[in-house]
Amino acid sequence: MTTHIAAPLLPLDADPRTATGRTLGWGVVSTGRIARKVTPDIASLEDSRLVAVSSRSQEKADAFARDVGAERAYGDAEGHSGLDRMLADPEVDVVYVASPHGQHRDHALAAIRAGKHVVCEKAFTVNAGEAREVFQAAREQKVFVMEAVWTRFQPGVQRLLRLIADGAIGEVEWVQTDLGFAAPEDPEHRIWRQDAGGGALLDLGAYVMLWPWGAMGFPSGADITARLRDGVDELSSITGSYRGGVAQMQMSLVSSCPSTATISGTKGSIRVGAPMHSPRSAVVSLSGDAQESGQAGSEETLEFPFTGVGYVYEMREATTRIQRGDLESPVMCWDDTLRQMELFDNLRRQIGVRYPNDAA
Ligand SMILES: NC(=O)c1ccc[n+]([C@@H]2O[C@H](COP(=O)([O-])OP(=O)(O)OC[C@H]3O[C@@H](n4cnc5c(N)ncnc54)[C@H](OP(=O)(O)O)[C@@H]3O)[C@@H](O)[C@H]2O)c1
Repeated sequence: MTTHIAAPLLPLDADPRTATGRTLGWGVVSTGRIARKVTPDIASLEDSRLVAVSSRSQEKADAFARDVGAERAYGDAEGHSGLDRMLADPEVDVVYVASPHGQHRDHALAAIRAGKHVVCEKAFTVNAGEAREVFQAAREQKVFVMEAVWTRFQPGVQRLLRLIADGAIGEVEWVQTDLGFAAPEDPEHRIWRQDAGGGALLDLGAYVMLWPWGAMGFPSGADITARLRDGVDELSSITGSYRGGVAQMQMSLVSSCPSTATISGTKGSIRVGAPMHSPRSAVVSLSGDAQESGQAGSEETLEFPFTGVGYVYEMREATTRIQRGDLESPVMCWDDTLRQMELFDNLRRQIGVRYPNDAA
């Protein structure tokens, strides 16, 4: 049984906002939806300083900086991109990349070459080749890089993965996960654009894989069935084969889904409440042993602590690792990102989804 995702174990009871070292200056790339949501959690760390935001538009950068309390705003100006201007700011130590998938490689590479540490939104890049390039640059520049799979750092996820690893529900043999929402119909939205790395797999794949990966390890094989719209996958179902069992993972950009997970083992099961990638509670059911010993089954609801809107845990990990001089986090290590991107490449080949970046 793997404990890979949960190891080494993060301290579950510590307040993630408590300082663990020197204060780091953060720069945020983009003024989009997730940048707006995550930034207050970054600012809530005692050892962080929200130094700057970059945008293609000075106006948008100014408004964002005003709203979230960033000290400086860099938009495109005088032939320089907002990003390049921000990367020239010596007080920016770490860059949080929150642009569309299709832009992650370029934005992360620019930051690394400027000597900045990087926390980059998922999907890390559009394909595995791009991810390798980014990690190679980080290795050369000796900077920290991490894919922002925030779910792995959640207290609920860490606690449940420990329970599973300790054998609480026996050997895990079957996992089901689903995640979906009705995305905006706007064809210009990044989620529908090939140049932005659109589609459900890159958007939701890291989340639906979380529980199968945590409970059974990395799949030895995977098959996907998908419905495409304008060249990207809008609805899909992955069946993963694992050493010990099977997983069913569903994703949708067109329908509202329960967004839950069920992990079934030989002695019981865990139902992770919605949203399963950022759980506040779960029900652990043990099947009992009525025939052998007459022992009844049991059911317990576990509640998990939650700080901010849930991003503070991954930002604590990145901050502490950078303060220690580490280049990666063992919880979301480079190898995991690479394996995941390779699997996504394989699944995209199966359904014929190709992005402009794939040609490079
Ligand atoms: N962790 C999570 O919970 C979570 C949730 C949703 C999304 N995400 C991830 O966060 C990233 C951004 O998603 P989002 O939903 O925030 O997207 P979004 O609202 O469309 O924002 C993306 C921003 O990127 C900037 N940008 C730079 N180059 C661009 C280009 N060529 N085309 C379009 N925008 C460009 C734009 O900001 P400027 O105009 O200011 O340059 C834009 O507002 C994705 O990787 C996504 O998977 C994570």
